[in-house]
Amino acid sequence: LVIVLDFGGQYNQLIARRVRECGVYCEILPYKTKLSELAAKEPKGIILTGGPNSVYDETSPTYSKELFSLGVPVLGICYGCQLMAHLLGGTVSHAETREYGKTDLTLLNSPLFTGIEKNTSCWMSHTDYIEKIPEGFSVCAKTNGCPVAAMENRDRKLYGVQFHPEVLHTPRGTKMFKNFLMEVCHLSGDWTMSGYAKEAIASLREKIGGKKVLCALSGGVDSSVAAVLIHKAVGKQLTCIFVDHGLLRKNEGDEVEEIFRRQYDINLIRVNAQDRFLNKLAGVTEPEMKRKIIGEEFIRVFEDEAKKIGSVDFLVQGTIYPDVVESGAGDAAVIKSHHNVGALPDVVDFKEIIEPLRSLFKDEVRKLGLELGIPDHLVWRQPFPGPGLAVRIIGDITKEKVSILQDADLIFREEIAKAGLDRDIHQYFAVLTNMRSVGVMGDGRTYDYTLALRGVTTQDFMTADWARIPYDVLEKVSSRIINEVKSINRIVYDITSKPPATIEWE
Ligand code: XMP
Repeated sequence: LVIVLDFGGQYNQLIARRVRECGVYCEILPYKTKLSELAAKEPKGIILTGGPNSVYDETSPTYSKELFSLGVPVLGICYGCQLMAHLLGGTVSHAETREYGKTDLTLLNSPLFTGIEKNTSCWMSHTDYIEKIPEGFSVCAKTNGCPVAAMENRDRKLYGVQFHPEVLHTPRGTKMFKNFLMEVCHLSGDWTMSGYAKEAIASLREKIGGKKVLCALSGGVDSSVAAVLIHKAVGKQLTCIFVDHGLLRKNEGDEVEEIFRRQYDINLIRVNAQDRFLNKLAGVTEPEMKRKIIGEEFIRVFEDEAKKIGSVDFLVQGTIYPDVVESGAGDAAVIKSHHNVGALPDVVDFKEIIEPLRSLFKDEVRKLGLELGIPDHLVWRQPFPGPGLAVRIIGDITKEKVSILQDADLIFREEIAKAGLDRDIHQYFAVLTNMRSVGVMGDGRTYDYTLALRGVTTQDFMTADWARIPYDVLEKVSSRIINEVKSINRIVYDITSKPPATIEWE
């Protein structure tokens, strides 16, 4: 185990990702974690992250100096490096100018830089700098603007870099992590997903024993992987409830049932609540209202089913690592109230929550899914909002509109897949506007709906760019939809990024 001690830097999750890519398991802990607590985990290495503060300010995050006397190798990055210098008797000062961006880097001899060419480059982002290194340390890298770009104390296995090896703009950064983990910490780098899966199954089996587990299945990646993992551990002790609100994509409800009930033989309760949801939504046009109604109704339906089952020992939550480590966004404005199965605990009679994915990043959840034999298309499924097609039908929702949108959306997805673009465009879907316009088909006048297509590329879904879908693909989609789906006579493509637009239309 390697511990990444978090001092509030923006790339901290990236550091953890790099470490895991080197085949070493790591966890991020807040800098407020007590030294005794940290030491009790018996880490083989510790990484101190960057952060926005200045080490010499009284109020800045700091740590007990004894950390450096544990005998465990430490790598400080940016703020972490400055903190190491500061706590061990060096001097950190404020520079006149900020060093920012890709910078030429000259390496000296150090275990950290084994196998890396002497002249390379790195990503810098700092204003403070190390003016004087602590006693016992030596400088092992420099840039034009930064005399101490890296420092080391080999005897004590303490290393610090002023730059950011975790970002791709430091081309040899991953090698530096590898060097720290293999050469300095003497780790073997044999953490793999298949090993992880075996261990997770064994520890779930032990934890659950002969008890009952309940899981809300949405058909999304996280809840699917969680369900299959638990099923592998305890089989029929697991019951999944799948609420089909009728606002899923075409055939999706049946596919979920097919995979989980037939293929895995999981105890699956599919609640066909289509009419219940449509009745509640009748005549509602306001987006937040739609979201609230669906979120609440989902809970009611789930509650009704859970009551029939009675008391269970464990309720599964599909929490993944970014949810665990993300520091709360404070008082950020509510743009949309998200609906997901996280709101269930209150309505289920359970003793404990179980979160089998809480230490994994999204791409690791996918890898685990493949490892467990979940079909490719489910593992790579693009995100789908909890309220489903309700937020992709502008205006009031009717059975007929849902069916029109399902048909159009399916054609769009088919053509994107045929063009081999389904992994490059991170999310793509159709939106049924409530606008009608005049067209001509055959010899007749039409007055039908306008359908909007949306496709985005994004890293984290917080910001996104509209996807440059080739014209010939758009043309094919447009002509197929107009020909095959009734009630649509015009198609537009959404070319707004996020911000200012959001990905979904409502
Ligand atoms: P927006 O539209 O806010 O969407 O740019 C960002 C991402 O979140 C998805 N989304 C949701 N996911 N419950 C979810 O689990 C929801 O209520 C919800 N609403 C939007 C959206 O599809 C996009 O990937």
